[in-house]
Amino acid sequence: MKHLERDGAEAFRAGRPRSVTVLGSTGSIGCSTLDLIERERDRFELIALTAHKNVDALIEQARRLKPQLAVIADALLYDELKAGLEGTGIEVAAGRDAVVEAALRPAEWVMAGIVGAAGLAPTLAAVRRGACVALANKECLVSAGPLFLAEVARSGTVLLPVDSEHNAIFQVLDQTRLHAVDKIILTASGGPFRTWSLAEMAKATPEQAVAHPRWSMGAKISVDSATLMNKGLELIEAHYLFPVGEERLDIVIHPESIIHSMVGYVDGSVLAQLGSPDMRTPISYALAWPDRMATPCERLNLAEIGRLTFEAPDPVRFPAISLARAAVKAGGAVPTILNAANEVAVAAFLDRRIGFLDIAGTVESVLSAMAPDSGQPDNLEHIYEIDGLARIRAEELVQLVGR
Ligand SMILES: NC(=O)c1ccc[n+]([C@@H]2O[C@H](COP(=O)([O-])OP(=O)(O)OC[C@H]3O[C@@H](n4cnc5c(N)ncnc54)[C@H](OP(=O)(O)O)[C@@H]3O)[C@@H](O)[C@H]2O)c1
Repeated sequence: MKHLERDGAEAFRAGRPRSVTVLGSTGSIGCSTLDLIERERDRFELIALTAHKNVDALIEQARRLKPQLAVIADALLYDELKAGLEGTGIEVAAGRDAVVEAALRPAEWVMAGIVGAAGLAPTLAAVRRGACVALANKECLVSAGPLFLAEVARSGTVLLPVDSEHNAIFQVLDQTRLHAVDKIILTASGGPFRTWSLAEMAKATPEQAVAHPRWSMGAKISVDSATLMNKGLELIEAHYLFPVGEERLDIVIHPESIIHSMVGYVDGSVLAQLGSPDMRTPISYALAWPDRMATPCERLNLAEIGRLTFEAPDPVRFPAISLARAAVKAGGAVPTILNAANEVAVAAFLDRRIGFLDIAGTVESVLSAMAPDSGQPDNLEHIYEIDGLARIRAEELVQLVGR
């Protein structure tokens, strides 16, 4: 298998443009990626952009950045996309398979910025052809970790974690000396409800849940941050990316979101990566890898910040972390079930069909019903089947709760 990125890294350093595809270009991660690309436009060549339903934003981005291909996942929006890009020479396509086709186009570097399990098939397509994959989509690893990593190993792809915590760990972890790691410590902002009582959380609205105090993100991950399921998903992601053992993965609440994660070594040293809470820093790290590129991100002024604080997560108000840890320990299809149930529950909460506390409740009930007999998936079809069953089960519960 040809290692597209390894071959291209030296050439990129020497000034040849890097060819890039952005999956999920209209999302929060996608827009930040395009913002960085536009700041150094001559260093990047756009191959493909993809979106789901936001056809207006995709048309606007495509006209601005002139990729070879623009894809809308919702096939019903094909005509609108085609009309919007008439006369530009940009190829257009629509449908789920077309998103996978976009990932197969020979870009050296692919941003996996689609949210949810929908990102799995296109991200795998990029991995299988050996592209360098900037992994923002955490659900790929959560729902299909071992199979996904087997494909990464087989293709020799370079996987660059974009999630700020995993990017931080990637920057400070000596991957050749995992035996010398004492702890990997994931930091969490605590989300908008960090100081709320359970009674207050029971009445939380979608607007309050997506109003994250530190990070500006898409709706689904913002709700995950409010339940702390985001940290649970990140724990699972870290378990697969940095195989030091689940018992050596810790989580600490750090409301200022300045330290993005830490690695403690057996000699007592703790290495941390710090920065302003702006996803353009980890995205730029992946975009320019193995170099670095300048970003407009606010520079840290520690004297002005004054204090960095830390606290332990509260397992009673935020049970999602315990659910995720149990899923890591159980292994097999349990993380797949957890992820699928969570996606359904978050969507139902955003639609005001269930309350905020019902999100973790739904996930827990689906896990109790399905986890004991879920087995060990050995191929992607099996993963999709389990994912689908968990969604049906979660939807049934949502309907019961929502009545
Ligand atoms: N945002 C962050 O700061 C952040 C940080 C760390 C990790 N992440 C992870 O990065 C991923 C993206 O997050 P985000 O916040 O950028 O999400 P987002 O703002 O909701 O954007 C999601 C993107 O995926 C597209 N999409 C949604 N459903 C799709 C489907 N079924 N098929 C194809 N494309 C689809 C959306 O298209 P439309 O716009 O057309 O709907 C959009 O381009 C998530 O896995 C998240 O956990 C995000």
